[in-house]
Amino acid sequence: MSTRTVKPVRSEIRSLEPYVPGKPVEELERELHISNAIKLASNENPLGPSPLAVRAMSEAAPGVNRYPDGSSYYLREALSRFWKVPFEQTAAGAGSNDLIDILCRIHLGPGDEAVMSHPAFIMFAIAVRVAGGTLVRVPGRDLFHDPPAMLAAINDRTRLVYFSNPDNPTGTRVTRRELDEYFARVPDHVLTILDEAYFEYVTDPEYPDGLEYLRLGKRVAVLRTFSKIYALAGLRVGYGFFSPELASLVHRVRLPFNVTSVGQAAAKASLEDLDQVARSRSLNEEALGFLRTELPKLGLTLTPTWANFVLARFPGSAVEAAQKLERLGVIIRPLTSFGLPAEYARISAETKPELTRLLDGLRRVL
Ligand SMILES: Cc1ncc(COP(=O)(O)O)c(C=O)c1O
Repeated sequence: MSTRTVKPVRSEIRSLEPYVPGKPVEELERELHISNAIKLASNENPLGPSPLAVRAMSEAAPGVNRYPDGSSYYLREALSRFWKVPFEQTAAGAGSNDLIDILCRIHLGPGDEAVMSHPAFIMFAIAVRVAGGTLVRVPGRDLFHDPPAMLAAINDRTRLVYFSNPDNPTGTRVTRRELDEYFARVPDHVLTILDEAYFEYVTDPEYPDGLEYLRLGKRVAVLRTFSKIYALAGLRVGYGFFSPELASLVHRVRLPFNVTSVGQAAAKASLEDLDQVARSRSLNEEALGFLRTELPKLGLTLTPTWANFVLARFPGSAVEAAQKLERLGVIIRPLTSFGLPAEYARISAETKPELTRLLDGLRRVL
């Protein structure tokens, strides 16, 4: 056989752009030989994990010579009790990214389509292509998802529709009324993924709880995470709620031991610390209030946000501003890798000292 006809790697994998994460503080410090860099680029919770989670991690640490509980039994039992969803409808993942990837691998093959808003959380776009599916991007309306347009993009080949609610990188949300209308019309052959990574931050009464649709028997998967308000991003623990049939498929496809023993223990303990969640939420509100007041004074325009970050439109190139800020030890996130114009950057709602340094930096570079 001629070697020219042999394709050792799938062409859709070769054409993928790798996910660009926010630059780690350590990397910037190494590059600049500085020691006090700050990062406002990855939508993390600056308060840090609950003391209950930290204790659970140290208690679990001596046991890491053993493989973890492969089914994340106790964590799922706690999630089932906490959210009042039957145990057999739950699954845990190495971050909710893991579950996004699993759902794409379950549903998509060559010729199958997946619909998402543009812009929206880019990991879904990557997971669709890795699974071999075709991505259909539907332009948002003023950086909000446009559910009627997403419905209009559905055809016989559509298997998945993905909502990040609230969305990353825009911070915008889809309302209950919009989702009610969407679920009244979406055809049965489509699974809708509601990615609610920032669920606990939202206080808006118009914001829907995805579990309501699952309880109504809609074809929906609801994904949540311990990376955001629970401040366990470094441990990689996410979870999802599904129909019993879909949950059983998720358990067949997920890797064995996909959640570490330390992660399971910390996540379960975090669920018990309601005070920490409330504190994180009010710290976030305070930081967002500060950003909403101060950034427009510097000429930045903010998109309304329901998450723990703001999407800011700079008066010029945010890519250049971000590079200059980095020289001052401040990391923000330009969004060209999310397909947004160079004027946009995402800035996390961090603590007051960090926000003050950000503002000082912006005053110097703009
Ligand atoms: C909308 C959205 N979904 C999922 C994730 C992934 O979170 P995890 O850390 O649970 O994989 C993120 C992370 O930034 C996100 O913004």
